[in-house]
Amino acid sequence: MKMFVVFVILVHVSQHTSAVELYEGEEFVLLPCQFNTFDMDNPTVVWSRYDLNPPTVHQRQQEGEGLTYQNQLYSGRTSMMTDALETGDLSLKLTKLQLSDSGSYTCTVRWLGDQRRVGNIQLKVKVSQHASAVELYDREEFVLLPCEFQTFEMDNPTVVWSRYDLNPPTVHQRQQEGDELKDQNQLYSGRTSMMTDALETGDLSLNLTKLHWSDSGSYTCTAKGLGGQLRVRNIQLQVKELFPFWAKVLLVLLVLLVAGIVAAGALLVHFRQYFMSVYKVEVDSEVKSVLLPCKTTVHLPEDVTVEWRDGHNMKVHVYKNGSDQPEEQNIRYRDRTEMKRNLQRPGDLSLTLKYPTNYNSNTYTCTVYSRERDILMKKQVLLQVKVCQVEVEEGAESVLLPCKTTENLPEDVRVEWIHYDPYEKVHMYQNGSDQPDQQDQVYRDRTEMKEDLLRTGDLSLTLKSPTDRDGGTYWCKVYDKKGVLMRWKSVDLRVKERSRNRSSSTDPTPLMADQLFDL
Ligand SMILES: *[C@@H]1O[C@H](CO)[C@@H](O)[C@H](O)[C@H]1NC(C)=O
Ligand SMILES: *[C@@H]1O[C@H](CO)[C@@H](O)[C@H](O)[C@H]1NC(C)=O
Ligand SMILES: *[C@@H]1O[C@H](CO)[C@@H](O)[C@H](O)[C@H]1NC(C)=O
Ligand SMILES: *[C@@H]1O[C@H](CO)[C@@H](O)[C@H](O)[C@H]1NC(C)=O
Repeated sequence: MKMFVVFVILVHVSQHTSAVELYEGEEFVLLPCQFNTFDMDNPTVVWSRYDLNPPTVHQRQQEGEGLTYQNQLYSGRTSMMTDALETGDLSLKLTKLQLSDSGSYTCTVRWLGDQRRVGNIQLKVKVSQHASAVELYDREEFVLLPCEFQTFEMDNPTVVWSRYDLNPPTVHQRQQEGDELKDQNQLYSGRTSMMTDALETGDLSLNLTKLHWSDSGSYTCTAKGLGGQLRVRNIQLQVKELFPFWAKVLLVLLVLLVAGIVAAGALLVHFRQYFMSVYKVEVDSEVKSVLLPCKTTVHLPEDVTVEWRDGHNMKVHVYKNGSDQPEEQNIRYRDRTEMKRNLQRPGDLSLTLKYPTNYNSNTYTCTVYSRERDILMKKQVLLQVKVCQVEVEEGAESVLLPCKTTENLPEDVRVEWIHYDPYEKVHMYQNGSDQPDQQDQVYRDRTEMKEDLLRTGDLSLTLKSPTDRDGGTYWCKVYDKKGVLMRWKSVDLRVKERSRNRSSSTDPTPLMADQLFDL
Protein backbone atom coordinates (compact mmCIF):
# COMPACT_ATOMS: atom_id res chain seq x y z
CA MET A 1 0.00 0.00 0.00
CA LYS A 2 2.80 2.38 0.88
CA MET A 3 4.24 1.68 -2.57
CA PHE A 4 1.03 2.84 -4.15
CA VAL A 5 1.08 6.14 -2.26
CA VAL A 6 4.63 6.67 -3.29
CA PHE A 7 3.79 5.98 -6.91
CA VAL A 8 0.83 8.34 -7.05
CA ILE A 9 2.67 11.24 -5.46
CA LEU A 10 5.60 10.64 -7.77
CA VAL A 11 3.42 10.82 -10.87
CA HIS A 12 1.99 14.16 -9.76
CA VAL A 13 5.43 15.51 -9.15
CA SER A 14 7.53 14.18 -11.97
CA GLN A 15 5.91 16.43 -14.58
CA HIS A 16 7.22 19.81 -13.48
CA THR A 17 7.70 20.14 -9.76
CA SER A 18 10.54 22.07 -8.39
CA ALA A 19 8.94 22.95 -5.08
CA VAL A 20 7.24 20.81 -2.45
CA GLU A 21 5.57 22.24 0.62
CA LEU A 22 4.17 20.41 3.62
CA TYR A 23 3.82 20.47 7.38
CA GLU A 24 6.20 19.39 10.08
CA GLY A 25 5.42 15.98 11.55
CA GLU A 26 4.22 14.55 8.23
CA GLU A 27 5.16 10.92 7.95
CA PHE A 28 7.16 11.17 4.76
CA VAL A 29 7.77 13.01 1.52
CA LEU A 30 9.14 11.75 -1.75
CA LEU A 31 11.54 14.06 -3.56
CA PRO A 32 11.39 13.09 -7.21
CA CYS A 33 14.42 12.56 -9.48
CA GLN A 34 14.65 10.47 -12.61
CA PHE A 35 17.64 9.68 -14.79
CA ASN A 36 18.64 6.71 -16.93
CA THR A 37 21.50 5.12 -15.06
CA PHE A 38 21.23 1.55 -16.28
CA ASP A 39 23.71 1.78 -19.17
CA MET A 40 26.30 3.56 -17.04
CA ASP A 41 29.42 2.07 -15.67
CA ASN A 42 29.32 1.97 -11.90
CA PRO A 43 27.06 4.98 -11.22
CA THR A 44 26.64 6.71 -7.85
CA VAL A 45 23.65 8.84 -6.90
CA VAL A 46 24.06 11.57 -4.31
CA TRP A 47 21.35 13.67 -2.74
CA SER A 48 22.85 16.82 -1.19
CA ARG A 49 22.00 20.03 0.54
CA TYR A 50 24.87 22.46 -0.11
CA ASP A 51 23.90 24.71 2.79
CA LEU A 52 24.90 21.94 5.20
CA ASN A 53 28.26 20.56 6.20
CA PRO A 54 28.73 17.77 5.30
CA PRO A 55 26.24 18.26 2.45
CA THR A 56 25.37 14.59 1.84
CA VAL A 57 21.77 13.70 2.62
CA HIS A 58 21.86 10.26 1.03
CA GLN A 59 24.15 8.27 -1.27
CA ARG A 60 23.54 5.15 -3.31
CA GLN A 61 26.02 3.14 -5.35
CA GLN A 62 25.97 -0.26 -6.96
CA GLU A 63 27.19 -1.93 -3.77
CA GLY A 64 24.34 -0.38 -1.75
CA GLU A 65 23.98 2.69 0.43
CA GLY A 66 27.13 4.65 1.15
CA LEU A 67 26.22 6.60 4.24
CA THR A 68 29.66 7.22 5.73
CA TYR A 69 29.50 10.92 4.86
CA GLN A 70 25.81 11.41 5.61
CA ASN A 71 24.90 14.51 7.58
CA GLN A 72 23.75 13.53 11.10
CA LEU A 73 20.49 15.43 10.65
CA TYR A 74 19.31 12.78 8.22
CA SER A 75 20.48 9.72 10.09
CA GLY A 76 17.95 6.91 9.76
CA ARG A 77 15.42 9.06 7.91
CA THR A 78 16.35 8.60 4.26
CA SER A 79 15.96 5.81 1.72
CA MET A 80 15.79 5.15 -1.99
CA MET A 81 14.05 2.35 -3.89
CA THR A 82 16.00 -0.91 -3.88
CA ASP A 83 15.98 -1.01 -7.68
CA ALA A 84 16.71 2.70 -8.16
CA LEU A 85 19.84 2.25 -10.27
CA GLU A 86 18.10 -0.38 -12.40
CA THR A 87 14.95 1.63 -13.11
CA GLY A 88 16.35 5.15 -13.12
CA ASP A 89 13.88 6.25 -10.42
CA LEU A 90 16.27 8.02 -8.06
CA SER A 91 13.62 9.58 -5.82
CA LEU A 92 14.51 10.14 -2.19
CA LYS A 93 12.16 9.19 0.57
CA LEU A 94 12.53 11.37 3.65
CA THR A 95 10.61 10.45 6.79
CA LYS A 96 9.54 12.21 10.03
CA LEU A 97 9.73 15.69 8.62
CA GLN A 98 11.21 18.48 10.67
CA LEU A 99 11.28 22.24 10.17
CA SER A 100 15.03 22.06 9.60
CA ASP A 101 14.45 19.87 6.52
CA SER A 102 13.47 22.97 4.56
CA GLY A 103 16.06 23.66 1.91
CA SER A 104 17.27 23.04 -1.60
CA TYR A 105 17.92 19.38 -2.46
CA THR A 106 20.16 18.42 -5.36
CA CYS A 107 20.17 15.01 -7.01
CA THR A 108 23.53 14.28 -8.68
CA VAL A 109 24.68 11.26 -10.69
CA ARG A 110 28.41 10.45 -10.84
CA TRP A 111 30.11 7.93 -13.06
CA LEU A 112 33.67 7.26 -14.21
CA GLY A 113 35.23 10.67 -13.81
CA ASP A 114 32.09 12.57 -14.73
CA GLN A 115 29.05 13.92 -12.90
CA ARG A 116 25.77 15.57 -13.65
CA ARG A 117 23.18 17.43 -11.58
CA VAL A 118 19.92 15.95 -12.69
CA GLY A 119 17.45 17.56 -10.34
CA ASN A 120 16.86 20.29 -7.83
CA ILE A 121 13.93 20.53 -5.47
CA GLN A 122 12.94 23.15 -2.95
CA LEU A 123 11.41 21.59 0.13
CA LYS A 124 9.52 23.77 2.54
CA VAL A 125 8.39 22.32 5.85
CA LYS A 126 5.95 24.60 7.64
CA VAL A 127 4.92 24.86 11.25
CA SER A 128 1.88 22.77 11.84
CA GLN A 129 -1.00 24.96 13.06
CA HIS A 130 -3.68 22.37 13.41
CA ALA A 131 -4.08 18.92 14.74
CA SER A 132 -3.42 16.46 11.95
CA ALA A 133 -5.71 13.95 13.59
CA VAL A 134 -9.45 14.29 14.02
CA GLU A 135 -11.46 11.97 16.20
CA LEU A 136 -15.21 11.94 16.62
CA TYR A 137 -18.34 9.81 16.95
CA ASP A 138 -20.48 8.60 14.06
CA ARG A 139 -23.48 10.51 15.33
CA GLU A 140 -21.94 13.86 14.44
CA GLU A 141 -23.66 15.43 11.45
CA PHE A 142 -20.47 16.32 9.64
CA VAL A 143 -16.75 16.70 10.08
CA LEU A 144 -14.51 19.36 8.61
CA LEU A 145 -11.06 18.02 7.71
CA PRO A 146 -8.74 21.04 7.78
CA CYS A 147 -6.33 21.96 4.97
CA GLU A 148 -5.05 25.43 4.19
CA PHE A 149 -2.72 26.42 1.38
CA GLN A 150 -2.30 29.67 -0.45
CA THR A 151 -3.80 28.37 -3.68
CA PHE A 152 -4.12 31.87 -5.09
CA GLU A 153 -0.35 31.88 -5.58
CA MET A 154 -0.79 28.87 -7.84
CA ASP A 155 -1.33 28.75 -11.54
CA ASN A 156 -4.68 27.05 -12.28
CA PRO A 157 -4.82 25.01 -9.05
CA THR A 158 -6.47 21.62 -8.59
CA VAL A 159 -7.20 20.29 -5.12
CA VAL A 160 -7.67 16.56 -4.57
CA TRP A 161 -8.71 14.90 -1.33
CA SER A 162 -7.70 11.23 -1.44
CA ARG A 163 -7.55 8.07 0.57
CA TYR A 164 -4.86 5.91 -0.93
CA ASP A 165 -6.14 2.75 0.76
CA LEU A 166 -9.18 2.88 -1.53
CA ASN A 167 -9.54 2.31 -5.23
CA PRO A 168 -10.21 4.74 -6.81
CA PRO A 169 -8.57 6.90 -4.15
CA THR A 170 -10.39 10.18 -4.94
CA VAL A 171 -12.66 11.44 -2.18
CA HIS A 172 -13.27 14.90 -3.64
CA GLN A 173 -11.75 17.04 -6.37
CA ARG A 174 -12.05 20.78 -6.94
CA GLN A 175 -10.68 22.72 -9.86
CA GLN A 176 -11.11 26.28 -10.96
CA GLU A 177 -14.13 25.28 -13.05
CA GLY A 178 -15.85 23.74 -10.00
CA ASP A 179 -16.12 20.25 -8.52
CA GLU A 180 -14.88 17.37 -10.70
CA LEU A 181 -16.34 14.17 -9.26
CA LYS A 182 -16.21 11.68 -12.11
CA ASP A 183 -13.32 9.79 -10.49
CA GLN A 184 -14.85 9.96 -7.02
CA ASN A 185 -15.00 6.76 -5.02
CA GLN A 186 -18.63 5.58 -4.74
CA LEU A 187 -18.37 5.44 -0.95
CA TYR A 188 -18.27 9.22 -0.83
CA SER A 189 -20.96 9.93 -3.38
CA GLY A 190 -23.10 12.87 -2.26
CA ARG A 191 -21.35 13.17 1.08
CA THR A 192 -18.51 15.58 0.39
CA SER A 193 -18.26 19.29 -0.23
CA MET A 194 -15.81 22.13 -0.17
CA MET A 195 -16.55 25.81 0.37
CA THR A 196 -17.58 27.72 -2.74
CA ASP A 197 -14.72 30.12 -2.20
CA ALA A 198 -12.10 27.46 -1.38
CA LEU A 199 -9.65 28.28 -4.17
CA GLU A 200 -10.10 32.02 -3.62
CA THR A 201 -9.35 31.91 0.09
CA GLY A 202 -7.03 28.91 0.30
CA ASP A 203 -9.24 27.22 2.88
CA LEU A 204 -9.45 23.77 1.30
CA SER A 205 -11.23 22.02 4.17
CA LEU A 206 -13.34 19.01 3.26
CA ASN A 207 -16.84 18.73 4.67
CA LEU A 208 -17.82 15.08 5.06
CA THR A 209 -21.38 14.23 6.10
CA LYS A 210 -23.30 11.09 7.16
CA LEU A 211 -20.32 9.73 9.01
CA HIS A 212 -19.69 6.03 9.32
CA TRP A 213 -16.94 4.21 11.16
CA SER A 214 -15.59 3.00 7.79
CA ASP A 215 -14.70 6.64 7.00
CA SER A 216 -11.78 6.24 9.40
CA GLY A 217 -8.51 6.46 7.55
CA SER A 218 -5.71 8.62 6.33
CA TYR A 219 -6.80 11.52 4.12
CA THR A 220 -4.42 13.40 1.87
CA CYS A 221 -5.11 16.94 0.69
CA THR A 222 -3.04 17.71 -2.40
CA ALA A 223 -2.99 21.08 -4.14
CA LYS A 224 -1.13 21.27 -7.42
CA GLY A 225 -0.67 24.09 -9.87
CA LEU A 226 0.18 23.99 -13.56
CA GLY A 227 3.43 25.75 -12.78
CA GLY A 228 4.55 22.67 -10.86
CA GLN A 229 3.88 23.80 -7.34
CA LEU A 230 2.69 21.02 -5.08
CA ARG A 231 1.38 21.14 -1.51
CA VAL A 232 0.55 18.03 0.44
CA ARG A 233 -1.05 17.50 3.83
CA ASN A 234 -2.14 14.32 5.61
CA ILE A 235 -4.92 14.06 8.18
CA GLN A 236 -6.00 11.05 10.18
CA LEU A 237 -9.72 10.67 10.71
CA GLN A 238 -11.14 8.32 13.26
CA VAL A 239 -14.88 7.84 13.41
CA LYS A 240 -15.94 5.90 16.47
CA GLU A 241 -19.24 4.11 16.93
CA LEU A 242 -21.07 5.84 19.71
CA PHE A 243 -23.08 2.76 20.59
CA PRO A 244 -22.44 -0.84 19.67
CA PHE A 245 -25.51 -2.99 18.87
CA TRP A 246 -26.48 -4.04 22.41
CA ALA A 247 -26.25 -0.48 23.55
CA LYS A 248 -28.54 0.60 20.73
CA VAL A 249 -31.22 -1.83 21.96
CA LEU A 250 -30.91 -0.43 25.44
CA LEU A 251 -30.97 3.04 24.04
CA VAL A 252 -34.29 2.47 22.26
CA LEU A 253 -35.87 1.55 25.59
CA LEU A 254 -34.32 4.52 27.23
CA VAL A 255 -35.44 6.84 24.46
CA LEU A 256 -39.06 5.74 24.90
CA LEU A 257 -38.81 6.50 28.56
CA VAL A 258 -37.21 9.84 28.11
CA ALA A 259 -39.36 10.95 25.15
CA GLY A 260 -41.86 12.59 27.41
CA ILE A 261 -39.26 14.59 29.25
CA VAL A 262 -37.59 15.63 25.99
CA ALA A 263 -40.87 16.91 24.59
CA ALA A 264 -41.14 19.20 27.58
CA GLY A 265 -37.49 20.23 27.15
CA ALA A 266 -38.01 21.05 23.46
CA LEU A 267 -40.76 23.42 24.41
CA LEU A 268 -38.43 25.17 26.80
CA VAL A 269 -35.70 25.48 24.16
CA HIS A 270 -38.29 26.84 21.78
CA PHE A 271 -39.13 29.62 24.21
CA ARG A 272 -35.50 30.34 24.96
CA GLN A 273 -35.01 31.23 21.29
CA TYR A 274 -37.22 34.23 21.87
CA PHE A 275 -34.95 35.61 24.51
CA MET A 276 -31.66 35.08 22.72
CA SER A 277 -31.18 38.25 20.78
CA VAL A 278 -29.00 38.14 17.71
CA TYR A 279 -27.73 41.42 16.41
CA LYS A 280 -28.29 41.84 12.67
CA VAL A 281 -26.05 43.81 10.34
CA GLU A 282 -26.91 44.23 6.70
CA VAL A 283 -24.65 45.94 4.18
CA ASP A 284 -24.39 45.98 0.43
CA SER A 285 -21.40 44.51 -1.31
CA GLU A 286 -19.96 47.94 -2.19
CA VAL A 287 -18.86 48.80 1.36
CA LYS A 288 -15.16 48.76 2.23
CA SER A 289 -15.65 47.38 5.71
CA VAL A 290 -18.32 46.40 8.17
CA LEU A 291 -18.38 46.66 11.96
CA LEU A 292 -19.60 43.62 13.88
CA PRO A 293 -20.59 44.96 17.31
CA CYS A 294 -19.74 43.21 20.55
CA LYS A 295 -19.96 45.40 23.64
CA THR A 296 -20.37 44.94 27.33
CA THR A 297 -20.74 47.29 30.24
CA VAL A 298 -19.35 44.65 32.58
CA HIS A 299 -15.79 45.26 33.68
CA LEU A 300 -13.56 42.70 31.96
CA PRO A 301 -10.20 41.71 33.44
CA GLU A 302 -7.02 42.63 31.56
CA ASP A 303 -6.00 39.10 30.67
CA VAL A 304 -9.13 37.96 28.83
CA THR A 305 -9.08 36.02 25.58
CA VAL A 306 -11.48 37.17 22.87
CA GLU A 307 -12.39 34.82 20.04
CA TRP A 308 -14.45 35.76 17.04
CA ARG A 309 -15.68 32.72 15.08
CA ASP A 310 -17.90 32.34 12.05
CA GLY A 311 -20.85 29.98 11.61
CA HIS A 312 -18.51 27.21 10.47
CA ASN A 313 -16.70 27.54 13.78
CA MET A 314 -13.63 28.94 12.03
CA LYS A 315 -11.52 31.48 13.86
CA VAL A 316 -12.06 34.95 12.45
CA HIS A 317 -9.97 36.88 14.97
CA VAL A 318 -8.20 35.99 18.20
CA TYR A 319 -7.08 38.44 20.88
CA LYS A 320 -5.07 36.95 23.70
CA ASN A 321 -2.53 38.05 26.27
CA GLY A 322 -2.92 41.71 25.34
CA SER A 323 -2.49 41.41 21.57
CA ASP A 324 -3.94 40.06 18.34
CA GLN A 325 -2.92 36.53 17.35
CA PRO A 326 -3.00 36.62 13.55
CA GLU A 327 -1.36 33.20 13.19
CA GLU A 328 -4.41 31.57 14.78
CA GLN A 329 -7.01 32.96 12.42
CA ASN A 330 -8.43 31.16 9.41
CA ILE A 331 -6.66 32.00 6.17
CA ARG A 332 -9.75 33.61 4.61
CA TYR A 333 -9.73 36.31 7.29
CA ARG A 334 -6.02 37.06 7.18
CA ASP A 335 -5.24 40.79 6.92
CA ARG A 336 -8.94 41.52 6.87
CA THR A 337 -9.84 41.99 10.54
CA GLU A 338 -9.25 44.63 13.16
CA MET A 339 -10.28 44.63 16.81
CA LYS A 340 -9.32 47.73 18.72
CA ARG A 341 -9.13 47.16 22.44
CA ASN A 342 -9.50 50.66 23.61
CA LEU A 343 -8.53 51.26 27.24
CA GLN A 344 -11.01 54.15 27.45
CA ARG A 345 -13.77 51.80 26.35
CA PRO A 346 -12.60 48.47 27.72
CA GLY A 347 -15.83 46.61 27.03
CA ASP A 348 -15.83 47.30 23.29
CA LEU A 349 -14.67 44.17 21.47
CA SER A 350 -16.30 45.02 18.14
CA LEU A 351 -14.62 43.66 15.05
CA THR A 352 -14.04 45.42 11.77
CA LEU A 353 -14.18 43.08 8.78
CA LYS A 354 -12.66 44.57 5.66
CA TYR A 355 -13.81 44.06 2.06
CA PRO A 356 -16.82 41.85 2.84
CA THR A 357 -18.32 39.80 0.02
CA ASN A 358 -21.60 37.95 -0.07
CA TYR A 359 -19.66 34.78 0.78
CA ASN A 360 -19.04 36.35 4.20
CA SER A 361 -22.77 36.36 5.03
CA ASN A 362 -22.73 34.32 8.18
CA THR A 363 -23.35 34.25 11.91
CA TYR A 364 -20.36 35.56 13.82
CA THR A 365 -19.86 34.80 17.50
CA CYS A 366 -17.81 36.89 19.88
CA THR A 367 -16.76 34.90 22.95
CA VAL A 368 -14.80 36.24 25.90
CA TYR A 369 -12.89 33.76 28.06
CA SER A 370 -11.23 34.24 31.42
CA ARG A 371 -7.68 33.05 32.03
CA GLU A 372 -9.19 29.77 33.29
CA ARG A 373 -11.11 29.40 29.99
CA ASP A 374 -14.48 30.11 31.59
CA ILE A 375 -16.88 31.90 29.28
CA LEU A 376 -17.48 35.43 30.57
CA MET A 377 -19.61 36.62 27.68
CA LYS A 378 -20.93 35.43 24.33
CA LYS A 379 -22.68 37.50 21.66
CA GLN A 380 -23.85 36.75 18.16
CA VAL A 381 -24.02 38.94 15.10
CA LEU A 382 -25.76 37.96 11.90
CA LEU A 383 -24.04 39.55 8.92
CA GLN A 384 -25.85 39.81 5.64
CA VAL A 385 -23.83 41.11 2.71
CA LYS A 386 -26.24 41.71 -0.14
CA VAL A 387 -25.39 40.18 -3.48
CA CYS A 388 -24.91 42.80 -6.12
CA GLN A 389 -27.63 42.06 -8.68
CA VAL A 390 -27.83 43.44 -12.18
CA GLU A 391 -30.67 42.86 -14.60
CA VAL A 392 -30.69 43.53 -18.29
CA GLU A 393 -32.99 42.71 -21.17
CA GLU A 394 -31.67 40.55 -23.94
CA GLY A 395 -30.86 42.63 -27.01
CA ALA A 396 -29.67 45.62 -24.96
CA GLU A 397 -26.54 47.25 -26.33
CA SER A 398 -24.52 46.60 -23.17
CA VAL A 399 -24.66 46.08 -19.43
CA LEU A 400 -22.42 47.46 -16.67
CA LEU A 401 -21.15 45.05 -14.01
CA PRO A 402 -20.13 47.25 -11.06
CA CYS A 403 -16.94 46.69 -9.07
CA LYS A 404 -15.61 49.61 -7.05
CA THR A 405 -12.57 49.12 -4.85
CA THR A 406 -9.96 51.31 -3.23
CA GLU A 407 -8.64 54.35 -5.04
CA ASN A 408 -5.02 54.61 -6.08
CA LEU A 409 -4.35 50.92 -6.61
CA PRO A 410 -0.68 50.08 -7.13
CA GLU A 411 0.40 49.95 -10.76
CA ASP A 412 1.32 46.27 -10.69
CA VAL A 413 -2.09 44.88 -9.71
CA ARG A 414 -3.78 42.24 -11.82
CA VAL A 415 -7.54 42.39 -12.32
CA GLU A 416 -9.55 39.37 -13.41
CA TRP A 417 -13.19 39.30 -14.39
CA ILE A 418 -14.36 35.69 -14.23
CA HIS A 419 -17.69 34.09 -15.10
CA TYR A 420 -18.28 31.36 -12.57
CA ASP A 421 -19.91 28.05 -13.44
CA PRO A 422 -19.01 27.51 -16.22
CA TYR A 423 -15.64 29.04 -15.43
CA GLU A 424 -14.67 31.51 -18.14
CA LYS A 425 -12.16 34.32 -18.29
CA VAL A 426 -14.17 37.37 -19.22
CA HIS A 427 -11.60 40.14 -19.06
CA MET A 428 -7.99 40.32 -17.91
CA TYR A 429 -6.02 43.42 -16.98
CA GLN A 430 -2.34 43.40 -16.06
CA ASN A 431 0.73 45.60 -16.35
CA GLY A 432 -1.47 48.65 -16.89
CA SER A 433 -3.36 47.33 -19.91
CA ASP A 434 -6.02 44.89 -21.08
CA GLN A 435 -4.79 41.40 -21.99
CA PRO A 436 -7.20 40.29 -24.73
CA ASP A 437 -5.12 37.20 -25.55
CA GLN A 438 -5.91 35.82 -22.08
CA GLN A 439 -9.69 36.08 -22.29
CA ASP A 440 -12.04 33.37 -23.54
CA GLN A 441 -13.21 33.50 -27.14
CA VAL A 442 -16.90 34.21 -26.37
CA TYR A 443 -15.96 37.52 -24.75
CA ARG A 444 -13.59 38.69 -27.47
CA ASP A 445 -14.30 42.33 -28.43
CA ARG A 446 -17.30 42.38 -26.08
CA THR A 447 -15.73 43.77 -22.89
CA GLU A 448 -14.42 47.13 -21.79
CA MET A 449 -13.06 48.54 -18.54
CA LYS A 450 -12.92 52.22 -17.63
CA GLU A 451 -9.98 54.43 -18.34
CA ASP A 452 -7.83 55.51 -15.44
CA LEU A 453 -9.09 52.61 -13.37
CA LEU A 454 -6.07 52.38 -11.06
CA ARG A 455 -6.52 55.97 -9.88
CA THR A 456 -10.28 55.80 -9.41
CA GLY A 457 -10.45 52.17 -8.23
CA ASP A 458 -13.50 51.73 -10.43
CA LEU A 459 -13.00 48.30 -12.02
CA SER A 460 -16.53 48.02 -13.42
CA LEU A 461 -16.88 46.07 -16.63
CA THR A 462 -19.04 46.87 -19.64
CA LEU A 463 -20.30 43.74 -21.37
CA LYS A 464 -21.65 44.34 -24.85
CA SER A 465 -24.60 42.55 -26.47
CA PRO A 466 -25.55 40.44 -23.46
CA THR A 467 -27.39 37.22 -24.30
CA ASP A 468 -29.16 34.57 -22.28
CA ARG A 469 -25.94 32.51 -21.89
CA ASP A 470 -24.18 35.47 -20.22
CA GLY A 471 -26.41 35.19 -17.13
CA GLY A 472 -24.90 33.96 -13.87
CA THR A 473 -22.29 34.88 -11.31
CA TYR A 474 -19.32 37.09 -12.13
CA TRP A 475 -16.25 37.61 -9.98
CA CYS A 476 -14.13 40.73 -10.02
CA LYS A 477 -10.79 39.77 -8.46
CA VAL A 478 -7.80 41.96 -7.73
CA TYR A 479 -4.36 40.45 -7.09
CA ASP A 480 -1.19 42.14 -5.92
CA LYS A 481 2.09 41.65 -7.73
CA LYS A 482 2.88 38.49 -5.76
CA GLY A 483 -0.43 36.97 -6.78
CA VAL A 484 -2.14 37.38 -3.42
CA LEU A 485 -5.86 38.06 -3.67
CA MET A 486 -6.53 41.59 -2.38
CA ARG A 487 -10.17 42.21 -3.25
CA TRP A 488 -12.97 40.05 -4.41
CA LYS A 489 -16.48 41.02 -5.41
CA SER A 490 -19.26 39.04 -6.89
CA VAL A 491 -22.01 40.26 -9.21
CA ASP A 492 -25.10 38.29 -10.30
CA LEU A 493 -26.29 39.08 -13.81
CA ARG A 494 -29.77 38.20 -14.98
CA VAL A 495 -30.52 38.53 -18.66
CA LYS A 496 -34.26 38.76 -19.19
CA GLU A 497 -36.00 37.53 -22.27
CA ARG A 498 -37.11 40.34 -24.50
CA SER A 499 -40.85 41.02 -24.20
CA ARG A 500 -42.78 39.92 -27.28
CA ASN A 501 -44.27 43.14 -28.58
CA ARG A 502 -41.05 45.11 -28.42
CA SER A 503 -39.01 42.39 -30.10
CA SER A 504 -41.33 42.28 -33.10
CA SER A 505 -41.18 46.04 -33.61
CA THR A 506 -37.39 46.14 -33.46
CA ASP A 507 -36.74 43.14 -35.69
CA PRO A 508 -33.95 44.07 -38.04
CA THR A 509 -35.08 44.62 -41.62
CA PRO A 510 -33.76 41.91 -43.93
CA LEU A 511 -30.64 42.85 -45.84
CA MET A 512 -31.05 43.73 -49.52
CA ALA A 513 -28.82 42.10 -52.08
CA ASP A 514 -26.77 45.27 -52.72
CA GLN A 515 -26.28 45.80 -48.98
CA LEU A 516 -24.83 42.33 -48.80
CA PHE A 517 -22.15 43.35 -51.28
CA ASP A 518 -21.29 46.37 -49.16
CA LEU A 519 -20.40 44.05 -46.32
C1 LIG B 1 -21.27 20.55 5.96
O1 LIG B 1 -22.34 20.08 5.15
C2 LIG B 1 -23.59 19.97 5.84
C3 LIG B 1 -24.58 19.36 4.87
O2 LIG B 1 -24.55 19.98 3.61
C4 LIG B 1 -24.01 21.34 6.33
O3 LIG B 1 -25.22 21.21 7.06
C5 LIG B 1 -22.94 21.89 7.23
O4 LIG B 1 -23.26 23.21 7.65
C6 LIG B 1 -21.60 21.93 6.51
N1 LIG B 1 -20.59 22.38 7.43
C7 LIG B 1 -19.76 23.37 7.18
C8 LIG B 1 -18.81 23.71 8.25
O5 LIG B 1 -19.78 23.96 6.12
C1 LIG C 1 2.15 36.90 27.14
O1 LIG C 1 2.92 38.03 26.77
C2 LIG C 1 4.16 38.14 27.46
C3 LIG C 1 4.84 39.45 27.06
O2 LIG C 1 4.13 40.11 26.05
C4 LIG C 1 5.03 36.93 27.13
O3 LIG C 1 6.26 37.00 27.83
C5 LIG C 1 4.28 35.66 27.51
O4 LIG C 1 5.01 34.51 27.12
C6 LIG C 1 2.90 35.61 26.84
N1 LIG C 1 2.17 34.46 27.33
C7 LIG C 1 1.54 33.62 26.51
C8 LIG C 1 0.82 32.50 27.20
O5 LIG C 1 1.52 33.75 25.31
C1 LIG D 1 4.03 42.03 -16.99
O1 LIG D 1 5.31 42.59 -16.73
C2 LIG D 1 6.23 41.68 -16.16
C3 LIG D 1 7.49 42.44 -15.84
O2 LIG D 1 7.52 43.67 -16.44
C4 LIG D 1 6.46 40.51 -17.12
O3 LIG D 1 7.35 39.58 -16.56
C5 LIG D 1 5.15 39.83 -17.43
O4 LIG D 1 5.32 38.80 -18.38
C6 LIG D 1 4.14 40.84 -17.94
N1 LIG D 1 2.86 40.16 -18.10
C7 LIG D 1 2.06 40.34 -19.14
C8 LIG D 1 0.83 39.52 -19.14
O5 LIG D 1 2.29 41.14 -20.02
C1 LIG E 1 -46.14 45.93 -24.99
O1 LIG E 1 -45.50 47.20 -24.92
C2 LIG E 1 -46.22 48.14 -24.14
C3 LIG E 1 -45.49 49.48 -24.24
O2 LIG E 1 -44.11 49.31 -24.35
C4 LIG E 1 -46.37 47.66 -22.72
O3 LIG E 1 -47.13 48.60 -21.95
C5 LIG E 1 -47.09 46.33 -22.72
O4 LIG E 1 -47.15 45.82 -21.39
C6 LIG E 1 -46.36 45.33 -23.60
N1 LIG E 1 -47.12 44.11 -23.69
C7 LIG E 1 -46.61 42.93 -23.44
C8 LIG E 1 -47.52 41.76 -23.62
O5 LIG E 1 -45.44 42.77 -23.08
